[in-house]
Amino acid sequence: MTDWTIRPAERRDVSELLFIEESQFPEPWTRRILLDEITNTETRRYTVAVEKKRIIGYLGVMFVLDELHINTIGTLPGAEGRGIATSLIDDAWADARGRGVKRATLEVAVSNERAIALYYRYGFAPVGVRKNYYERTNEDALILWADLPGVA
Ligand SMILES: CC(C)(COP(=O)(O)OP(=O)(O)OC[C@H]1O[C@@H](n2cnc3c(N)ncnc32)[C@H](O)[C@@H]1OP(=O)(O)O)[C@@H](O)C(=O)NCCC(=O)NCCS
Repeated sequence: MTDWTIRPAERRDVSELLFIEESQFPEPWTRRILLDEITNTETRRYTVAVEKKRIIGYLGVMFVLDELHINTIGTLPGAEGRGIATSLIDDAWADARGRGVKRATLEVAVSNERAIALYYRYGFAPVGVRKNYYERTNEDALILWADLPGVA
């Protein structure tokens, strides 16, 4: 039982998403990018976790053929460790199965142990490294892939 609900992201959510972006990422997306992402419902699926009318987490995925790409995921600072990201990914996986998605991928900073631990729980495994993927921090990214469970 969780205290939050998950729903599709809407334009009106952008300021709250921007706040999480700017507090959680060294290279945050801009309001423009977030708006473009949220409103591109043809190839994207953005969801938010809402608790007491406040957005406490969000997940943005992109569909490419039979693949799902995790574009972004963030939890409100101070709300980490409550299972919010897990619930957002569970919801995305349930939706993806219905779409016939077979695999998922993402890039994650090599130092982001918390996120990597989360992804490993979903069966993601590293297949390579993108050197200096994050320009501001000069950090490398791990490229992770996972097969979606229950999808042959
Ligand atoms: C990574 C992130 C999205 C995880 O969100 P979250 O809501 O805290 O995740 P959950 O509560 O579902 O926990 C998932 C796992 O993350 C790890 N984790 C979460 N909170 C943690 C904490 N406070 N301390 C240590 N590990 C933690 C654990 O491995 C946890 O699994 P467990 O509870 O089974 O041990 C969040 O920390 C975040 O927004 N980070 C900054 C943005 C980011 O790095 N995004 C990913 C970019 S690729």
